[in-house]
Amino acid sequence: MGLNILIIGSGAREHAIARALDASSKEKYIFCIASNLNPGIVELCDELIIGDFNDPSFVVAYANEINADLVIIGPENPLDRGISDALWDANIRVVGPKKDLAQIESSKAFTRDLLSKYNISGGPKYKTFSSIIGVSEFLSELGKDYVVKFDGLAGGKGVKVSGDHLHSHRDALDYCSEIITNKGTFVIEQKFVGEEFSLMSFCDGETLKHMPIVQDHKRAFENDTGPNTGGMGTYSDANHSLPFLNESDVNEAKSINLKTAKALKEEFNEGYVGILYGGFIATKNGVKLIEYNARFGDPEAMNVLSILDSDFLEICDLMTKKKLKDINIKFKKKATVCKYAVPIGYPEEPVKNKPINLNKIENPDNLYYASVDIKNDILVESGSRTVAYVGTGSTIFSAEKIVEREISKVEGPLFHRSDIGKKELINKKIDHMKSIR
Ligand code: GLY
Repeated sequence: MGLNILIIGSGAREHAIARALDASSKEKYIFCIASNLNPGIVELCDELIIGDFNDPSFVVAYANEINADLVIIGPENPLDRGISDALWDANIRVVGPKKDLAQIESSKAFTRDLLSKYNISGGPKYKTFSSIIGVSEFLSELGKDYVVKFDGLAGGKGVKVSGDHLHSHRDALDYCSEIITNKGTFVIEQKFVGEEFSLMSFCDGETLKHMPIVQDHKRAFENDTGPNTGGMGTYSDANHSLPFLNESDVNEAKSINLKTAKALKEEFNEGYVGILYGGFIATKNGVKLIEYNARFGDPEAMNVLSILDSDFLEICDLMTKKKLKDINIKFKKKATVCKYAVPIGYPEEPVKNKPINLNKIENPDNLYYASVDIKNDILVESGSRTVAYVGTGSTIFSAEKIVEREISKVEGPLFHRSDIGKKELINKKIDHMKSIR
């Protein structure tokens, strides 16, 4: 009897999860609750249904109907809505933390307070506010380098950074007032200067196993300019690190993830089960934590799962049985580059529901479908990051060449960043880090 696996979510990250499950040698049946008809996931699934995966009773009812043994939650919103709690209550194992533990992503104030309470390094000077009292004074204390974070999930749009989105204390005060008007709270913190990187770890509540380090590119346009996006592309080197990081940066980030998982367990008397994604920045004063996510990164999932050399289904199974220590998780010693093709106008005014053509892609095994749909039997983009392509190679540059060749063959009103993973941009990051250190 094979395992019945349910995937929650239907973007490229979940396509990568489905592909990694499909590659498992174990007997299994894959199901998915999706928000859109992702043809990549449909092809790998026994059944995909469109439904509200943020609704606990709906998810539990479907999981029971298919006799799910294991559920893998892709996006953050279902975690914040307590889908994991509801499934565990129904005796169904879940990769994805319960609501309280998922606060590591859903509450910026919670995360800063947790790190500070448990003396975990990497935190900035910060304060939490729910009114305008004291905001001006704290901004004056921070000077020109500050960040204002809405204290909740906002699809990546809640964080505003001085110099990028906020050009004066007046701008910052206006953003704070907007949050207060909507009855929200916010964190103001010191802005770090350096190079960002992502370190994701598999966690079973006790043991952590780290994945290769990846760098994402949040800005929409070449040379890291333009508005913030969900992430336009990512790369990782064959040594599972990045060209601008040293060994002590990597060890510091691993240690922060370990200490954070331990702190979560102490705080809630219950271990964190799922993917712990640390968003770090290497600075002149060592590694600092920008934020945590409680799930796989997107596009980071495509980089790491493309070179996973162990059985992903076994990893998920062991994660939910507190037995991660029993497996030696291996990744191929390969560099990876992933790039997204996104609709013209993305992220602010994307064109929507226009046909796209993927027939010219030579090797669709490394193509991941994201925000797409089927309308009248035609594949259309649906307004967000559309398809991603991953190249692997012995160097970042050889991997990049593959991606560039293939992603350029996607036809439709789309664009991608050709500079990601190229020598010029990577050298810029190396030089930036050198000048800071
Ligand atoms: N790559 C950024 C994220 O997944 O949030």
